[in-house]
Amino acid sequence: MAVTILAIESSCDDTSAAVVRDGHILSNLIAGQDIHMSYGGVVPELASRAHQANIVPVVDQALRRAGTDVEEIDAVAFTRGPGLLGSLLVGTSFAKGFALARDIPLIDVNHLQAHALVHFIPEKDGMTRLPEFPFLCLIVSGGHTRLIVMKNHLDMETIGNTIDDAAGEAFDKCGKLMDLLYPAGPLIDKLASRGNSKAFSFAKPKVKDLDFSFSGLKTSFLYFLNDKLKDDPRFIEKNRADLCASLQETIVSMLISKLIKASQLTGIKEIGIAGGVSANSGLRNGLALEAEKRGWNLFIPPLSYTTDNAAMIGIAAYYKYLRGEFTGQDVAPQARY
Ligand code: KG4
Ligand code: ZN
Repeated sequence: MAVTILAIESSCDDTSAAVVRDGHILSNLIAGQDIHMSYGGVVPELASRAHQANIVPVVDQALRRAGTDVEEIDAVAFTRGPGLLGSLLVGTSFAKGFALARDIPLIDVNHLQAHALVHFIPEKDGMTRLPEFPFLCLIVSGGHTRLIVMKNHLDMETIGNTIDDAAGEAFDKCGKLMDLLYPAGPLIDKLASRGNSKAFSFAKPKVKDLDFSFSGLKTSFLYFLNDKLKDDPRFIEKNRADLCASLQETIVSMLISKLIKASQLTGIKEIGIAGGVSANSGLRNGLALEAEKRGWNLFIPPLSYTTDNAAMIGIAAYYKYLRGEFTGQDVAPQARY
């Protein structure tokens, strides 16, 4: 019998709902929150209020687009963490209420695991190329920069992590210094395509093993700009594309070098990227070149599955459903998972 799951994602600033049947995505709706744009980052209180306003219409649309009736939903899944507590609470409470009202199982999902599982979403044409295990995945977003090894769909081990900021945060914070609206990552990517990546160079921190660090880059970028602005108050305006290209090159090369190291240390050549920053064209192109050189079987997610979405929560929940891993009404969201 087919298994139909309603999945909810509300860990940060996107309210998303998806309907997933037997691991296939029937619908995936995302309501973003432009309200954070002028603040240079997500304002937690505003995010949870927006989730509260969006959750019911988004779920309603997801069910409609999937052509599914509430009676057909066999289980409801939600992001338990990591994320912003107030945001997580909205999705968690909605899912609990839905499960209780319909008397169906409740499935809690780890947001990071879900990001990596986008590589296991079958494409509509059925021609999906799936990774084999063990699978090495770099999860890189506004909140995380983490290297994981997946032994199967649900068991993952972290082998590298950021010791301070996430890579997406470095994009966003440096973007703010250049007067770009939040989230600056996509804008920097776009401007970088017109710039010279060798125009400026920024120091890359030496971090041990497979860990990352991005807070120093933000500081050196700030000092560099302040120095240049003393001589020319229009320095940013005149050099924005070159600044973006050079910054992107610095961040991307830090990510790629750790991924190469991780592959060498683990011997794994089944490699993927996931999370918001995996949309970055510099990272995607750079990794495609490395994959060819090193014989990697590389998995790059479709753009629609890079940023936060409920389809990934639904696919993770499907594998948990198959294992019978459900949770109770006493479950609480966890900001740190
Ligand atoms: O996965 P995501 O939607 O949310 C988190 O879990 O953080 O990622 C959002 C992050 C933001 O920092 C945004 O600037 C970054 O992903 N991002 C990008 C690009 N698209 C989104 N960074 C660089 N280049 C992009 N094209
Ligand atoms: Zn995320």
